[in-house]
Amino acid sequence: MKKAGRVYISRKVFFSAAHRMFNPELSDEENLRLYGKCSNPGGHGHNYVVEVTVRGIPDERTGVVINLDDLKKLLDWEIIDRFDHKDLSSGVDVLEGSVISMETLVRVIWDLLDPKITDAELYEVRIWETDTNCAWYRGGE
Ligand code: NI
Repeated sequence: MKKAGRVYISRKVFFSAAHRMFNPELSDEENLRLYGKCSNPGGHGHNYVVEVTVRGIPDERTGVVINLDDLKKLLDWEIIDRFDHKDLSSGVDVLEGSVISMETLVRVIWDLLDPKITDAELYEVRIWETDTNCAWYRGGE
């Protein structure tokens, strides 16, 4: 067989959480101008979808890039247990001090997962906040 190239493996996880787009260093007017109704007091919720992609050369013996059961456990632990049914704008330690945008979430999730994925290389984290809006991150490329 021809020398194997890298194969990309993706897994999705889903969580529901509340947030408010708000920067306390800005005035209410500036927050409203930047974030629109997403800055309304009291916050609002999203059904987030996170898609994590790793890549690697399939192991000759096992035929796979990564043990999907290990990946599932990692994503359940680092993403679902941490964020599901939480208010992301308060009380989630890894998000303290940040505006809870898709951009923030995708980078925080990358930083949580990257050191823990050792069998393959983390390639991309993508987060869908709505059916139409997503952010994706590939580390410091
Ligand atoms: Ni929102």
